[in-house]
Amino acid sequence: MPRAHLTVAAEPVADVDPRLFGSFVEHLGRAVYDGLYEPGHPAADEDGFRTDVLALVRELGATTVRYPGGNFVSGYRWEDGVGPREQRPRRLDLAWHSLETNEVGLDEFARWARRAGLELVLAVNLGTRGVQEALDLLEYCNVPSGTTLSDARVAAGTPDPHAVRMWCLGNEMDGPWQLGHSTAEEYGQLAARTARAMRQLDPSVELVVCGSSSAQMPTFGTWERTVLEHTYDVVDHISCHAYYKLTDGDVASFLASGVDMDRFIESVAATADDVKAATGHDRTMTIAFDEWNVWDAEHYEAQEKRTAVDDWPVAPRLLEHSYTVADALVVGGLLISLLRHAGRVRSANLAQLVNVIAPIMTEPGGPAWRQTIFHPFAAASRLARGEVLRTSLRADRLTTARYGEVDVLDAVVTRDEAAGHTTVLVLNRATDAPTVLTVDLAALGTVGTVEATTLTDADLTARNTLTEPDRVVPVPLREVRREGATLTLELPPASWTAVTLR
Ligand code: AHR
Repeated sequence: MPRAHLTVAAEPVADVDPRLFGSFVEHLGRAVYDGLYEPGHPAADEDGFRTDVLALVRELGATTVRYPGGNFVSGYRWEDGVGPREQRPRRLDLAWHSLETNEVGLDEFARWARRAGLELVLAVNLGTRGVQEALDLLEYCNVPSGTTLSDARVAAGTPDPHAVRMWCLGNEMDGPWQLGHSTAEEYGQLAARTARAMRQLDPSVELVVCGSSSAQMPTFGTWERTVLEHTYDVVDHISCHAYYKLTDGDVASFLASGVDMDRFIESVAATADDVKAATGHDRTMTIAFDEWNVWDAEHYEAQEKRTAVDDWPVAPRLLEHSYTVADALVVGGLLISLLRHAGRVRSANLAQLVNVIAPIMTEPGGPAWRQTIFHPFAAASRLARGEVLRTSLRADRLTTARYGEVDVLDAVVTRDEAAGHTTVLVLNRATDAPTVLTVDLAALGTVGTVEATTLTDADLTARNTLTEPDRVVPVPLREVRREGATLTLELPPASWTAVTLR
């Protein structure tokens, strides 16, 4: 049986920014229409938003929502989505080859986000548009009143400004699929000009410049360097995006995806620090990991993509990935990686929220349910707050085809003084045997009650579906022993466990 030992120090390494548990809604497929918004649904409120979905979003515990894209934003005219609904244009969405009705726009979405308890993070279009349109949107959102655009917002029924703090300067501008795809040089200059102008209008904004759309991009590294050389003094964060998938049935490598995320974050941080040193800046550039999840983007390209000029459906079923237990374990492992880097990664967004590569699924006129990945996210968001504590792990190793030798398990420990609890999150990557983990908590003083739940299943392909929505749920972990300040856990093979100590 594999073994591991975790020593927990009382010393914090970083505070956990609540924005690490952010989400993402793009106008894509059934995320908005026939997803969180379905006026004819029995559970719809007076604005047409489904209250059952709203309840699940609250239960998920996401803190922010990035909107409205994604690739969609690079062709979006935000003005189309404000003002009287009956006058809103129907537009081609070139990113997803769909028809955008603009029935839901900024004001409706902002109201929904407020009700869901989500801080709104907006992306501006730097694909087909530029500085002026970004300024117009910022004026519409953040100026209280007394200008044409802020008064338009008031007239449209939103008297208080949206007061949007965090803004993404475009989306994945390094990707050839992106409308307005540019070189790092071109994008860096445009992002810098846009950032300066936005700060002139509202100095309190927090700005995210586009990093690479994945660490596999041929320009990864040089993109970050060039873009930061142009923007270091005017932006707050650089973005990272990463999607992981099971390849050729290689579960061992898949469960070790967190190793890749660790390397990704550390290499972007190293590039940013290099630019910092070379340009003489004092401030350390932080990371907004504003898209991450399990997803096979090639499946979209090969199976779902439309191209015909006479075929532009409204809200087609796209990217409706049905998540397995293995996917949920990977999501749990990625959360551990994000938390481990909480000092550098100040914000992150699970991509996405409803129907589109999402923790929450809906059926038109029917129920809403939690996918497997809902569970680790909800547990981490609820429990892993406060500060990340220093830990040291000694673990048996296992061999993976993609990452070589890796620890049999991965763990992170947080301490939430306000809530009075310590949390250990742990992924057991061993698939054929339980792993025995001992946790030395002596540095924390007395430990009172211990509660542990685990997500696992003998069938790693098990899913939650319309007909079996709660097939996979976390269950109490019974194999927990405490002797003095040492905890011994027998972690089931391929499992993600959350332990709370009060
Ligand atoms: O989340 C789906 C898509 O993935 C987003 O639109 C894009 O930014 C990324 O490539």
